[in-house]
Amino acid sequence: MNQTPYVVVVGSANVDLTTFTDQFPRPGETIFGQSFDLGFGGKGANQAVAARLCGAEVSMVARVGDDLFGPATIANFAGYGIDTSHVRITPGVSSGVAPIFVESSGQNRILVVKGANDRLTPADVDQAEDLLRRADCIVLQLEIPLDTVYYTLRLARKYGVRTILNPAPAQPLDLQAAGEADYVVPNETEAEALAGAPVRNPEEARTCAQRLLDRGLRRIIVTLGANGALSASERGVRHVPPFPVNPVDTTGAGDAFIGSFACFLASGCEEEEAISRSNLYAALSTLAVGTQKSFVSNERFETEWAKAPRAAHSR
Ligand code: RIB
Repeated sequence: MNQTPYVVVVGSANVDLTTFTDQFPRPGETIFGQSFDLGFGGKGANQAVAARLCGAEVSMVARVGDDLFGPATIANFAGYGIDTSHVRITPGVSSGVAPIFVESSGQNRILVVKGANDRLTPADVDQAEDLLRRADCIVLQLEIPLDTVYYTLRLARKYGVRTILNPAPAQPLDLQAAGEADYVVPNETEAEALAGAPVRNPEEARTCAQRLLDRGLRRIIVTLGANGALSASERGVRHVPPFPVNPVDTTGAGDAFIGSFACFLASGCEEEEAISRSNLYAALSTLAVGTQKSFVSNERFETEWAKAPRAAHSR
């Protein structure tokens, strides 16, 4: 096992404005929500924090706005011990923000305004090349320009660095360019968007994953929420079972999975154990409100992992 794996996240940082409500206003109507939470989010930032909490050394490559949220976001990264030497403030642009609505079941709906995230260019990636080439794992998502994502994947392949692409939020992708990634990790909705077939259960996830392998992706892990995860590669397809919980807020659970998976994999865990561990890490994140602030520490995770039923550890 690597003592301290090094993970670089090239991705987004947002501020999450979360309203808890079971009702939504119609056009022209004003209604009351139940409660509100303000926190740091963004898929890239969340994944960086999860990897860091699991024990990785982490660098973030990102852009924030020159508003109140920009410097606060950088300070938040620094508070976790994440390297921010490649997080730039972009003049004249807002930071990324995400108005989020969470129902009492824990289900969420998210609207993302990309702001400065949309200004992260291949030139920013070039400036971080020294970090990227010595990473154990590079993590990407789709809240930044696709050109920047594809460029980073090509660069990583040139240096032989392992990459994880989280194709979120769902949008059309160039599968040939995305095929440079070692792992593509969608949830059900994102897998559906990539494969053009419904994913409502592990069986459909299997069909969808096979379709994506046939179209040139190398390895796919479909995260299935309460149903665990399904991994597929040319070596075969495997369902990795979940750790059942009663969620209060599922926002960021996918990011908890991906950030922790990057860390576990780069630490030297076998792929299947890494997926099983990440299933548990993501499940634990749904027990508290918020995104990053719902992610548990490495110590808490290891305590829960030691207690978790062996049968659920995969196989
Ligand atoms: O995956 C959850 C994240 O999606 C939130 O933190 C929000 O900012 C959006 O990026």
